[in-house]
Amino acid sequence: MKKIVVIGGGTMGNGIAHVCAMSGYSVKLVDANEQALDRAMILIEKNLDRMLAKEKITQAQKLETLERLHPALSISQSVLEADLIIEAVPEILSLKESVLREADSVAPENAILASNTSSISITKLASMTSRSDRFIGMHFFNPVPVMKLVEVVRGLDTSQRTVDAIMKTAEFLGKTPVEVQDSPGFVSNRVLMPMINEAIFCLQEGVGNAEQVDEVMKLGMAHPMGPLRLADFIGLDVCLNILNVLYEGFKDPKYRPSPLLVKMVDAGKLGDKTGQGFYLHGK
Ligand SMILES: NC(=O)c1ccc[n+]([C@@H]2O[C@H](COP(=O)([O-])OP(=O)(O)OC[C@H]3O[C@@H](n4cnc5c(N)ncnc54)[C@H](O)[C@@H]3O)[C@@H](O)[C@H]2O)c1
Repeated sequence: MKKIVVIGGGTMGNGIAHVCAMSGYSVKLVDANEQALDRAMILIEKNLDRMLAKEKITQAQKLETLERLHPALSISQSVLEADLIIEAVPEILSLKESVLREADSVAPENAILASNTSSISITKLASMTSRSDRFIGMHFFNPVPVMKLVEVVRGLDTSQRTVDAIMKTAEFLGKTPVEVQDSPGFVSNRVLMPMINEAIFCLQEGVGNAEQVDEVMKLGMAHPMGPLRLADFIGLDVCLNILNVLYEGFKDPKYRPSPLLVKMVDAGKLGDKTGQGFYLHGK
């Protein structure tokens, strides 16, 4: 692996591009939206400055990282020489399909295609390409430069060679990869989302208010952030979407989203990004 292309420069894509460039890869960061691309490059530089101020990197490392990063608007022109392509566009199946088909049609034969999806089946995404053996889930966590885990998701046809290459690459990025099988929510969201949902049921039923529910989980279970605060951070629409994936994927009522969560999303109270969720945020 030498050349990595990251498609989508939003929350996840700019973080993925940041860690890849910092680890020495030549990185093309592609976004269809020019303003989003500019914002991503500014944010990466800001995050590098923060690391510099904390003496986690040197000025030379900052400059070398920026030199290895190349913003681009076109997928097909960017992936021509790629070894690894990491897709991080929004969680909309039709959008991922068009992006993956375009990348697959022009990328070199041996290139590996990875998706950062948090809930869509890797096997389904792989089937939209001509390289299901060289297709894999590379599930990073937010904020990418800080979070150690990469959940490496093996689709039905993913080859051992692809898994080995991606495990090695994730380690090279300074991450700890954990290999899991393709299944709704993988491991991370299958365990996390029912916990968040149950916390919302507690709130809905008046078992405790938001602070009380979160304090119990922080102080009693050593969670750094309570589940309701975490739900606001992730986005309540994202939580609802993932719970629906679990509910539909397993056809098991234990995954049914709490009516309060549905109501909050209907009201546009999505958490940090809208200024209100289970808490009020500084907007
Ligand atoms: N945000 C999280 O905490 C988180 C965590 C893990 C995984 N994920 C997954 O990562 C993926 C991206 O999520 P995000 O939060 O970074 O989204 P985001 O909305 O912040 O960013 C998506 C970016 O993709 C760009 N884009 C849209 N269409 C495009 C196209 N056709 N070609 C190129 N770029 C295009 C947008 O302009 C935007 O900049 C999703 O699959 C999500 O489920 C998100």
